[in-house]
Amino acid sequence: MLLCAMLTITELNRQAESLIRQNRKLQLLLTEGEIANLHREDSGHLFFSLRDEKSAVRAVMFAHLAERLRFQPENGLQVIAAANADFYPVSGTFQLRVTDMLLQGIGTVQRGFLRKEQELQKEGILSASGKKPLPENPRKIGIITSAQGAALQDILHILKRRSPLAETVIFPVHVQGIYAEAEICQALKAADSQQLDVLILGRGGGSAEDLAIFNAESVVRTVSACHTPVISAVGHETDVTLTDKAADLRASTPSAAAELATSPHFPEMQTLSGERLFSVRQIPADGIFRIILPDGSVTVRAFYQERKFIMNDNEKLRQYAVRTEQKLASVVDGLSVQAQHRQMTADSLFHAMRHSLTAGGKRIRPALIYAFCELCGSAPEKADAAAAAMEMTHTSSLIFDDLPAMDNDDFRRGKPSCHKAFGEATAMLAGIGLICAPFQIIAEDNALTPEQKTKLIQILATEEGTAGMVGGQMLDMLFETAGTVTAEQLEMMCLGKTGALMKASCQMGIICGGGSAEQVEAAGNYGLATGLAFQMVDDILDVTSTSEQLGKPVGSDAEEGKQTFVTLLGIAQAKNRAAELTAKAHTALDKFPESETRAFLHSLTDALLVRVQ
Ligand code: IPE
Ligand code: IPE
Ligand code: MG
Ligand code: MG
Ligand code: MG
Repeated sequence: MLLCAMLTITELNRQAESLIRQNRKLQLLLTEGEIANLHREDSGHLFFSLRDEKSAVRAVMFAHLAERLRFQPENGLQVIAAANADFYPVSGTFQLRVTDMLLQGIGTVQRGFLRKEQELQKEGILSASGKKPLPENPRKIGIITSAQGAALQDILHILKRRSPLAETVIFPVHVQGIYAEAEICQALKAADSQQLDVLILGRGGGSAEDLAIFNAESVVRTVSACHTPVISAVGHETDVTLTDKAADLRASTPSAAAELATSPHFPEMQTLSGERLFSVRQIPADGIFRIILPDGSVTVRAFYQERKFIMNDNEKLRQYAVRTEQKLASVVDGLSVQAQHRQMTADSLFHAMRHSLTAGGKRIRPALIYAFCELCGSAPEKADAAAAAMEMTHTSSLIFDDLPAMDNDDFRRGKPSCHKAFGEATAMLAGIGLICAPFQIIAEDNALTPEQKTKLIQILATEEGTAGMVGGQMLDMLFETAGTVTAEQLEMMCLGKTGALMKASCQMGIICGGGSAEQVEAAGNYGLATGLAFQMVDDILDVTSTSEQLGKPVGSDAEEGKQTFVTLLGIAQAKNRAAELTAKAHTALDKFPESETRAFLHSLTDALLVRVQ
């Protein structure tokens, strides 16, 4: 049997209200606390809480009083407040109506936070460098959040739409309260042992007290120790926690984290029956697959064939190619992390760059750089930066070369050309990105001296520029409508569009290897002869090869009305001239002492003449 009186909620709140209003101690009181959860309404009213180490109380300061304050209220500031305690019966809320505030300095909670932040910063736990890049196409995504929260539903909804085939693994935890800290740390460790591609840790918005767990030292340290890339998404846009700073990437909200974890702009590959393909290795044996382009409207069907490197059995060429792939991957990852840190999270730009870079180029130019570096008796490590820089430069030239305004080609390196996959604007920006990056890579390299860097940059800029590749490409366009062109003019144009970057490659190799001025000259002569022969063979292959072999369309030159060595000399004569130039290239190599590397260059020179790719 109930011994106490039954009260309705309304009566209960009315009682509480009158208790508070009648208590003189609670009227016109002074209290000291730290401002948190500050929200300023358009009308000028301030809503916030005042807190000390153990408790918090809600507070409101109306606009006509707030505008008289002699300081700008901010979260984390310690104040003495004059206020009336109030009870708002409609919601049963106890709050202070603040009439004035006196600034005391930085609050104890905020001071503790700043101290902790400084300590962790010193240890490198919050450092901006060493952030892990996000995977391009994550297949297994972990989510650590509350099972009940709206954040989880938001994340799942977005992941389902943007990456329907990715597997999601949910680690439910309390995100506030006494269990939260231990549970989050445990979940982070468990998730990190599960070979996930990326991990989202987060929760929806809440008060500063609610989000405090994400400033807990153990959580911050565990996030930083994860091997899996972690995206942190705590609260709203304006809430920044130490967990956000320790994570590899901060998302402003849980939904944004799901967007960042997936890659919507990557063209999707499918089998004809609609099964998603995650890698070119999964393409069915008949080589037929579908590509869904980013705007979803264009579907192309392409044949893919395993594109083998020329001299596929040549171990040295293979090793150089592997080095190049590795260096390129780490360089692009670095650029992407740098962009992420500056909030330039334009995923499609990096997808476009990687799309073209990793499509399967033969990596001839990096091989030349490595070989000429080794010819000077230096280790290939010295040439890593230059090799990646050159392959990026070359790849950018291909992106531009394929644009509708130039050669208008839909395929490159066995994939849709960059503008086909990502649109012209993104392709152009990816191309520009690949032009700028080489200078950054060279300038920031640790293996080269300042003198070497300057020389490399000078060679690269000159040979890539208006007196080299760009100049040659311009002539190539002008020759389309120029009527008759002589063999000399055609050779001059090709020495620019193709020879210049080959020459730069060989000379940059010598610079990396610390070779002499005579060696730079000999390497340049080799590069020009090889480059010219290379373009002749390219023109011949445009009429004799297949698009499967080349990974780019055949017949493109005729379609665009190009002046080529085939149109001018015919196939047989063009082959003869290419053979002559190849002989000249061999002679240039004779300037170097005999070695295994020189023998490699001789065989590469021959292989380039008879190549079919
Ligand atoms: C193609 O160069 C462009 C020309 C200069 C003819 P490559 O034939 O070296 O192209 P990738 O790098 O292997 O795709
Ligand atoms: C290539 O000339 C020159 C550059 C890309 C700088 P092409 O236009 O003949 O090259 P492909 O045949 O498209 O590779
Ligand atoms: Mg061209
Ligand atoms: Mg072309
Ligand atoms: Mg060509």
